[in-house]
Amino acid sequence: MIIATKAGFTRSGPNDWRAVGRPEYLRQQVELSLRHLGLDRIPLLQLHRIDPKVPLADQVGELKLLQDEGKIGLIGLSEVDVDELKEAQKTATIASVQNLYNLTNRKSEALLDFVEANDIAFVPWFPLATGKLAEPGGPLGSIVKRLGVSGSQLALAWLLQRSPVMLPIPGTSSVDHLEDNIAAAGVKLSADDVEALSTVRS
Ligand SMILES: NC(=O)c1ccc[n+]([C@@H]2O[C@H](COP(=O)([O-])OP(=O)(O)OC[C@H]3O[C@@H](n4cnc5c(N)ncnc54)[C@H](OP(=O)(O)O)[C@@H]3O)[C@@H](O)[C@H]2O)c1
Repeated sequence: MIIATKAGFTRSGPNDWRAVGRPEYLRQQVELSLRHLGLDRIPLLQLHRIDPKVPLADQVGELKLLQDEGKIGLIGLSEVDVDELKEAQKTATIASVQNLYNLTNRKSEALLDFVEANDIAFVPWFPLATGKLAEPGGPLGSIVKRLGVSGSQLALAWLLQRSPVMLPIPGTSSVDHLEDNIAAAGVKLSADDVEALSTVRS
């Protein structure tokens, strides 16, 4: 298990998200997370969004300083493309990227291929498409029936089989769902299953 959190994105109201990447703000967020999580060091801290108003080197540079001070273990990024990742790598070692990715949203394929080739972890957020892929009768319905697994397990097994650097983070408020999701690690898909899943759309 690894504890990970993010900094650099504010939410002042419903759907009102704003990137704030000023170094002093990132530092404050890290200090608050240390306090809230009861940790001396955050094992993985991800820059939630790149703030276009602040040089990327300053944002990643502050995380590097916090890493040098021992307050952060590894540095990650979120919602980036390959060029942004390469730019950030000029300032610090990037251990992970966290982008929206699941069976029905594969816009980050190029980034996934790049990080896999460079041994960087890929954390797909919304791995269950906010639960739509787990719904009975959802887009995975017929394949779920044939394989005798849950929709959630199928969606997660597909992610795990897609790449060795894949680290899905399904959200749940239920222990039953947590156990269902963990069991996805034991589901092996055949090449035909993977092929059938490649045509699934939301
Ligand atoms: N980097 C970013 O910008 C960013 C943005 C958004 C989210 N995230 C991260 O992504 C992670 C996942 O996001 P998410 O939780 O919103 O989406 P998600 O994992 O795609 O879907 C969660 C939904 O699926 C349901 N679910 C989970 N397991 C299930 C199961 N076995 N059977 C049936 N339903 C199941 C949950 O309901 P129950 O509670 O009933 O199980 C919940 O409604 C979070 O850690 C979040 O912080 C990151």
